[in-house]
Amino acid sequence: MLSGWLLDPAGNGGARGMIMPRSSSDVWGTEPGLCPAPVLFILLLWLFWVMNETCVIVPAAGSGVRMGGPVPKQFLELAGRPILAHTLSGLSRLAFVSMIVLVVGEGYEARMRELVGQWRCGQESGLPEVFFAAGGKERSDSVCNALEMLPGECEWVMIHDGVRPFASAGLMEAVWEGARATGACVAAVAATDTVKLARDGIVRQTLARDEVWLVQTPQVFDKRIVTAAYKRAVLEGWAGTDDASFVERMGVAVSIVQGERTNIKVTSPQDLRWAEWYLGAMASGRGSCG
Ligand code: C5P
Repeated sequence: MLSGWLLDPAGNGGARGMIMPRSSSDVWGTEPGLCPAPVLFILLLWLFWVMNETCVIVPAAGSGVRMGGPVPKQFLELAGRPILAHTLSGLSRLAFVSMIVLVVGEGYEARMRELVGQWRCGQESGLPEVFFAAGGKERSDSVCNALEMLPGECEWVMIHDGVRPFASAGLMEAVWEGARATGACVAAVAATDTVKLARDGIVRQTLARDEVWLVQTPQVFDKRIVTAAYKRAVLEGWAGTDDASFVERMGVAVSIVQGERTNIKVTSPQDLRWAEWYLGAMASGRGSCG
């Protein structure tokens, strides 16, 4: 088991140690001729930054049954690097991320540490710190474990699947900004096929296509909202397949940001082949416009 294998909140989130001014004269200064405005501006900027830390949870504890093969899909290689390493690289480019909690399946702890170590080697300095949490039976159990371990400084939570290596920085920033405006925001793409509800091979209902959205990660939430939502679901024995559905049950409105069709969740061998092609196309410039 991995339990307890994390996270010294005091030693991590508190690293930006906050020294508060004791009184307004400490801020403004008392000497005549000293211009206070830049000092105040920097202080406000710094306070805003410290009080609004964003932590990222990366569920990567799946067994990868649908992919088949000997190892879970997050460890499979794409262009010579594990899928998860691509995902971590994408996340670590975001300026607002202060820490990453990576959820690890039982029995894969050593392999995951090795993966993170190797990923770190290939990166520039200044990466957010990576901590580990224990995986659960379902994805929601994994996220729940990670939520319990977030430090108090963390005000915003971004949740992003370990097997979505192609979410762009622009998309992640847009979802983050969306959440800061509304409290909860997800990336989603509009359905292009008609969606029907069926049971026992019989169609029961056809949904209005212009109201159907296929939801992706990243999903970003006010930590208080998502934590309360998960707590309530645990008490009521309810589980959903994405994080927003927990929040929706609380009556909280979840906003949508236009997702990316290339932001696939690598699930099947076909996805893996497409992902290889896509990376190759991007590298040779065929995948970019102009
Ligand atoms: O299997 P699914 O499509 O739900 O996986 C989405 C993400 O959730 C993957 O990155 C997978 O590793 C993770 N997951 C998890 N714990 C589970 C099941 C899935 O962290 N029990």
